[in-house]
Amino acid sequence: MAITFHYEAGSLQTDNRSGCNLLQLAQEAGVHIEARCGGQGTCGSCMVVLGTGRYRVCGEIIEVPPRQRREALACQSFVLGAEAEIHLLQRSLISTESARISESFQLPLFDRQPRFTTGCGVAVDIGTTTVVAVLVRLDSGEILSCQSMYNQQILKADDVISRISLCSEPAGLKTLQRLVIDHTLNPLISQLCADGAVEPHEIVHLCVAGNTVMLHIFYALSPVSIGVLPFTPLQRCFESTAEKLGIAINPSALIEAVPAVSGYIGGDITADMQLSGLANRRGCALLVDIGTNGEIAFWDGSRITACAAAAGPAFEGAGIMCGTRAVSGAIDAIDFDRSLDFKLSVIGESEPIGLCGSAVIDFIAAGFRCGLISMTGRFDIGMLRTSGRYTSVNGAHACVIHRTHDSAKTAAIVVTERDIAEILKAKAAIYSGIKTLLAESSRTVHDLEVVILAGGFASYINLDNAFELGLLPALGTDRYEVIGNGSLAGAIALLLNRQLADDYRLLIDRPYVIHLNRTAKFTEYYQEAVVIPNLCPE
Ligand code: FES
Repeated sequence: MAITFHYEAGSLQTDNRSGCNLLQLAQEAGVHIEARCGGQGTCGSCMVVLGTGRYRVCGEIIEVPPRQRREALACQSFVLGAEAEIHLLQRSLISTESARISESFQLPLFDRQPRFTTGCGVAVDIGTTTVVAVLVRLDSGEILSCQSMYNQQILKADDVISRISLCSEPAGLKTLQRLVIDHTLNPLISQLCADGAVEPHEIVHLCVAGNTVMLHIFYALSPVSIGVLPFTPLQRCFESTAEKLGIAINPSALIEAVPAVSGYIGGDITADMQLSGLANRRGCALLVDIGTNGEIAFWDGSRITACAAAAGPAFEGAGIMCGTRAVSGAIDAIDFDRSLDFKLSVIGESEPIGLCGSAVIDFIAAGFRCGLISMTGRFDIGMLRTSGRYTSVNGAHACVIHRTHDSAKTAAIVVTERDIAEILKAKAAIYSGIKTLLAESSRTVHDLEVVILAGGFASYINLDNAFELGLLPALGTDRYEVIGNGSLAGAIALLLNRQLADDYRLLIDRPYVIHLNRTAKFTEYYQEAVVIPNLCPE
């Protein structure tokens, strides 16, 4: 029995095996479909288009007649007939992508004093959701290539808390470590080497930055103590060699990390603080690193306080029905009025494949302005139906953003009410984290002279829409500074200047860390912020 998988670059055939769903069959055939919930049928990332054939989908037998199509989750679909044609959506395929990475970070000005003066280095930002890697020539500091992909640990669990619980078994820790190294970093390195015309053994130094849980798992250290009171990490500074960690570069290469502040304040925020000169600012300054594990630091002129606000992966396009990373074909901005005539900006000006987090923020803000979306994130169904934009996806009301005529390549791109709820929860976590941190220092957002935004996502966000949504304090764009992916820039800086290792070590002892879930105010602020824009007074 032959199953044919069609994708943009061609097609390949495999035999059906009873008991195997389409996700497993595709993976065995060498086609890598996103499966962020690990095949539990909850994330929507493995969507495929079923062509002619007989199937069992979510326990129901369905027949797709000739020339018809039907969307289904690969992890919940089994082929029953002799043959089947499966069309793979580009947004559902795991890929590496170099688009826009080099625009999303700023390198600090510093004297170059690399620890190694010949060969190449790799800097890596290990995010909970996305991993970004850059190949650098150590003698000149030249950036040769950049690549990114989803952290393949999302196959097992979306957020740091669930990953910590997986690590309560040594086998779980090992699995997660291999997912980030063998299935994420090593493929990225091989792509970097191909693009930069460099042999892997020429890479003699690798610097990583990331949150503390990601760093522990990367170095095969148990993060379990970070999950329980008093949230203490095993280590804050990390070092090893490529051989010990199984990284496919020169075996004796040094693998160094930007050190972490505490269990939930990672090396990414250390890099952001250093890069932005947070503690050298004259007045009150707030640093917000918008990511899955949102980290926030506040400088009041004499002291740094910091906290982490678990936002989840929605801003990075994960956990959103038609979400994607900021790659070619991703819709990165949307504007519209009551006519629901959507004006889309698409990266690479190609056929749209999905929505970045920045576009979903635009969509919700514009929808709220024109009355399409209520303050609790519900659609005006009448308005959707009148404009022909209404659809329903797995029982959730949804708005069709884009439809192509060739459904074999790209299915309709939609935003569901569930997607809106995910973004509202994410923005509420960030906003209430900011409010709580300021309140702990007896300050309000009006005391802020500057807000520094870090994280790859921050580079593309429309600030006015973020204000409208209540994600960030509405202080006017002139009080905002965007440094982009400070974590990646901090790792590159460490490759090129060994002095920074000492500076980072001094910096990690400075912040006073606040645990949001132990402050009464946080829950109160969170509940007020989970609507549009939010109910808490600034
Ligand atoms: Fe199929 Fe998540 S992997 S829905």
